[in-house]
Amino acid sequence: MIGIFDSGVGGMTVAKAVEDLCPHLPLVYFGDIARSPYGSKSPEVITECCRRNTDFLLSQGAELVVIACNSAAATASGTLRREYSVPIIDVVEATAEKAAAVSAAGGIGIIGTRATVRSKVYEQRLEAIRPGCRIASQACPLLVPLVEEGWLDKRETKMILRRYLHSLQQQQVDTLILGCTHYPLLGRLIQSRMGKRVRLIDSSAEAARHLKEFLDKNPRIGSNMAESGQQSRFFVSDSTGPVQQLADRIFGRPIHLEKVDV
Ligand code: DGL
Repeated sequence: MIGIFDSGVGGMTVAKAVEDLCPHLPLVYFGDIARSPYGSKSPEVITECCRRNTDFLLSQGAELVVIACNSAAATASGTLRREYSVPIIDVVEATAEKAAAVSAAGGIGIIGTRATVRSKVYEQRLEAIRPGCRIASQACPLLVPLVEEGWLDKRETKMILRRYLHSLQQQQVDTLILGCTHYPLLGRLIQSRMGKRVRLIDSSAEAARHLKEFLDKNPRIGSNMAESGQQSRFFVSDSTGPVQQLADRIFGRPIHLEKVDV
């Protein structure tokens, strides 16, 4: 199975993109709703959560793990790669590559959680791939709780976005990385605030594309999964009404969320 984890529902945008690209492969998803958001926590706590999540996914039969959370990838992907022998796919690598490739004038904005912005992981990758690009980043700690609450189109959400995006607009970025897998759910609002000329890079879609490339290069892993006959399963460490509604909305069908203590 393809193991995918996030602090909450954001990673479901990755899971849905993976399902669209690899419809014949079973997924096991874990959303750590009980400990969300990760982005405001210390690196030590985030890393410990990532270890627990990975152990859980492996216990459910995952043969590789997608870190569908920028905060977790920015903080703990190196540790997970050292400590686990399964392939670890992370949401940041492919996203930085895509932004560097498509930015017309090299003005690249990044929005993400505090953990992601503090790590400077995107800056490091972008500077390595496209030296000399102009990078502006903005932490947006209120967005994950707003999304988890289902406040996707509220006036208050628009006001907070206006405040967060102001400095990026002033710095005239031509490309904006949605450096949190919750943000595609606010994509329409972000696009209308930034204007049509700014290209949004969705880290969820890029992570799924990166996974597909990995599976194409390693066809045995995918064929083992396809032949296993397993069904996709979705686990959460806590379940609330808005979370269930978001899950159903992201997948466009009712999703059975199984609550587990991890
Ligand atoms: N979806 C996670 C990310 O990509 C949200 C992190 C959080 O819980 O703060 O960063």
